[in-house]
Amino acid sequence: MTHVLVTGGAGFIGSNFVKYILEMHADWHVTTLDKLTYAGRLENLEEVRDVPRHRFVEGDICNRDAATALVQDADFVVHFAAETHVDRSILSAGEFIHTDVFGTFVLLEAARQAPRLKRFVQISTDEVYGSVAEGASRETDELRPRNPYAASKAGADRLAYSYWATYRVPVIITRASNNYGPHQFPEKVIPLFITNALHDLSLPLYGDGQNVRDWLHVRDHCAALDLLLEKSTPGEVYNVGGGNEVKNIDLTHDILTLVGKPPSLIQPVADRLGHDRRYSLDTAKIRTLGWTQAHAFADGLAETVEWYTRNEWWWRPIKEQDLAFRDYYRQQYEERGKGVKG
Ligand code: NAD
Ligand code: TYD
Repeated sequence: MTHVLVTGGAGFIGSNFVKYILEMHADWHVTTLDKLTYAGRLENLEEVRDVPRHRFVEGDICNRDAATALVQDADFVVHFAAETHVDRSILSAGEFIHTDVFGTFVLLEAARQAPRLKRFVQISTDEVYGSVAEGASRETDELRPRNPYAASKAGADRLAYSYWATYRVPVIITRASNNYGPHQFPEKVIPLFITNALHDLSLPLYGDGQNVRDWLHVRDHCAALDLLLEKSTPGEVYNVGGGNEVKNIDLTHDILTLVGKPPSLIQPVADRLGHDRRYSLDTAKIRTLGWTQAHAFADGLAETVEWYTRNEWWWRPIKEQDLAFRDYYRQQYEERGKGVKG
């Protein structure tokens, strides 16, 4: 029996991955380990609640006992659990260092003793390369992270590699570009802008809106990870890029068009500190293994808008009733919006 341990499986990408794996491998068993932070939500796993091949365990990756027991039984560990929002890391970086670096260390230590482990997949990010003015980042490029989130992920990325180089834990590292799709927490730009537009709230666009992100549909990311479980080489890094480089201003107009709302909702606000201008990934390496994106960005974005439109029950309580989220929103956007053209 093949057993996959997914950390952070109640979050955006993790929950999509849990469902993808259960769907694609009829005889595999999946355990989700998640602390259920503000970003982790059991609703994300609603569709697999009654699937006997799936087990949900509420727990913290930083807790050695909990993590060690679960890693022991795993054939594959796919490690998504992390603090993930750049803006929150700029407000307060401590949790990022703790979860993203120390939590990864705890799992890697457990992996040293795991008898059946075939792969430990460290989910890293394109942000570890830093901003790239021209060309595309290759797996061998230097890491130049520029914000506390990216730096904590770069620390975990290299720590994971060190457990391969030193102890021969069968680690691989994946560096994906910006994901989008259903179940993304409405603090990230696409779900924030869609849900604000649906309620006629302004869309706070940072700086000059010319920053570029390379959008990857979450199901394409899941397909890449599934392929890598079986076709990768330990110790290697794999970029997973969307191939859809879009300026934020263009993305914002696309969202407004799809929701059917006017450009007057766009509110230019003060820029993010240290805002990376552009990310871009060279994906030649994973393509040689047979992966390619199945989702065209225009279709994927339209489907995503439709998902948020139909699933207001999922995001409305967060935005309207969750006091922590409302506090965060005020802290993040109130000051930033002052003194700029609205
Ligand atoms: P997310 O914030 O939606 O989910 C993170 C999950 O981790 C949540 O369910 C949360 O409860 C859980 N978690 C946090 N701390 C934990 C802890 N100490 N113990 C157990 N669980 C904990 O994040 P996401 O967007 O799904 O990202 C998942 C992973 O993918 C992260 O490692 C992130 O760095 C990486 N990544 C994300 C993107 C993106 O565009 N979203 C791109 C590249 C890489
Ligand atoms: P985000 O979704 O936070 O992802 P990341 O920082 O990991 O790339 O942001 C994507 C882009 O959108 C980034 O260039 C910052 C910008 N952005 C805004 O302009 N306004 C916002 O309110 C947010 C959250 C992001």
